[in-house]
Amino acid sequence: MARHLITSAIPYINGIKHLGNLIGSQLPADLYARYQRGRGHEVMFLCATDEHGTPAELAAAKAGKPVAEYCAEMHGIQAEIAKGFRLSFDHFGRSSSPQNHALTQHFAGRLHDAGLIEEVSERQVYSNADGRFLPDRYIEGTCPNCGYEKARGDQCENCTKQLEPTDLINPRSAISGSTDLEVRETKHLYLKQSQMKGKLDDWINSKTDWPVLTTSIAKKWLHDGDGLQDRGITRDLDWGIPVKNGDADWPGMEGKVFYVWFDAPIEYIACAGEWAEANGGDWERWWRTDKGAEDVRYTQFMGKDNVPFHTLSFPATIMGSGEPWKLVDYIKSFNYLNYDGGQFSTSQGRGVFMDQALEILPADYWRWWLLSHAPESSDSEFTWENFQASVNKDLADVLGNFVSRVTKFCRSKFGEEVPAGGAYTDAETALIADLTTRIRAYEGHMDAMEVRKSANELRAIWVAGNEYLQAAAPWSTFKEDPDQAATQIRLALNLIRLYAVLSKPFIPDASATLMTAMQTQDEAWPDDVAAALELLQPGHAFTVPDVTFRKITDDERADWQERFSGTRD
Ligand code: 2FM
Ligand code: ZN
Repeated sequence: MARHLITSAIPYINGIKHLGNLIGSQLPADLYARYQRGRGHEVMFLCATDEHGTPAELAAAKAGKPVAEYCAEMHGIQAEIAKGFRLSFDHFGRSSSPQNHALTQHFAGRLHDAGLIEEVSERQVYSNADGRFLPDRYIEGTCPNCGYEKARGDQCENCTKQLEPTDLINPRSAISGSTDLEVRETKHLYLKQSQMKGKLDDWINSKTDWPVLTTSIAKKWLHDGDGLQDRGITRDLDWGIPVKNGDADWPGMEGKVFYVWFDAPIEYIACAGEWAEANGGDWERWWRTDKGAEDVRYTQFMGKDNVPFHTLSFPATIMGSGEPWKLVDYIKSFNYLNYDGGQFSTSQGRGVFMDQALEILPADYWRWWLLSHAPESSDSEFTWENFQASVNKDLADVLGNFVSRVTKFCRSKFGEEVPAGGAYTDAETALIADLTTRIRAYEGHMDAMEVRKSANELRAIWVAGNEYLQAAAPWSTFKEDPDQAATQIRLALNLIRLYAVLSKPFIPDASATLMTAMQTQDEAWPDDVAAALELLQPGHAFTVPDVTFRKITDDERADWQERFSGTRD
């Protein structure tokens, strides 16, 4: 039995995520976690909310709530939605947890002791009215390039020109509107990543089996331009993890917090501590190579925009600490999912959001479409036509129809128990051989985290059963040779259980429905396909399940297309 530590990029707290976010990390991570559990391995699957930084502060201000209260509330909402999508986290933590505070401060202290932290003096805009330094995006003014009056200190939304806050004409605070601004000196901590360039380079070069999407992004940051830059890891904000050196105060850093991208990945570790606190258990055996984690395989899932932080900054933190923390073994990254001719956008509320999706259809429908269209080798696109077509064909016509025909036919001719029948003919033997080849291929793709290929193979496995049924035609055979029809149906009923086991990582609810209908809890993986198809013995009772998948009508499709064509408030 292997041990798999699996993490999904932790979603920002500011609002409900869209389907593009879901397929970029949490959903494929869940697929992999469920698969590894299905193969009998020990899994620790962790995710959390990413609660610090400017976006959290801004969203709380917009909601008119203290930021801590806003985050607690949004964490609850995101956790509920994750459950709705059947994301099987062992723990869904919070980057604002006491565990993450302590661990982030600990890492900063270790990096300081290792000579990897530098104090840098910077000039930054201070708002007298607000009594605080303003991050670039908290400053608004007129764009010097196009005259747009609501340009932000980092960029003009109108003409896209990248700006410095001091470029703005008539700058004002985005918080209070005050123009009483001045430039002040402030000190920040920098992580000297440049000193670790060689080590990081060797490490990335050793990862020859990683997806090119992952390594090419890492190499670009390591080598392009001036190469790997040192990174500011502190900010002048109220909300966040106070800058400390371990337990001790950090002189000159009073009132400052760590940068959200410094503490967010550390939450992967802290989250295991939160899990241990909630469930009792030893989290260090997952994370410390001196305490049992040397045989753990650690896989991370994320969108491509997150790759630099996971291939460079976080490993620099771990390596720089000089402590035996587990480094990631494999990084699976994704391109973007687009929405109906444009981009999904949280800020513009464009696309389908996770809560809205579940209001329309159960999780399995979304899980199947998203996973079978995962943006792996390139960006992919959600269209309502494609969604309707895939659901209706793969789930309703192929899988759902197979289950319905087999169970109903058996009930009407043999009653609600597995019929005995006799020996297999060439058709059954050929099917078993075909399924064996396909199931081994499916395992190969799932082990390699090739999401689309896995979905294609699973679909082919469903199709093989359908084609067998169509050719065997037990409804015709029954008239001449009821015993042979019984053999065919015995095999087909066993195939339903087999489908439930193989499909569970993709469509867990349907899998549970099928297992209940087959009145078994035996989820054993089909290492031996012939044996797996004998598992439900003659006389074993079953029930006919309610429709497993319904079709999406043209009217519904048109209706949803219209409803989600605009933007969400
Ligand atoms: O891009 C995002 O959604 C970030 N919140 C991901 C953070 S992943 C990690 F570093 F924790
Ligand atoms: Zn402009």
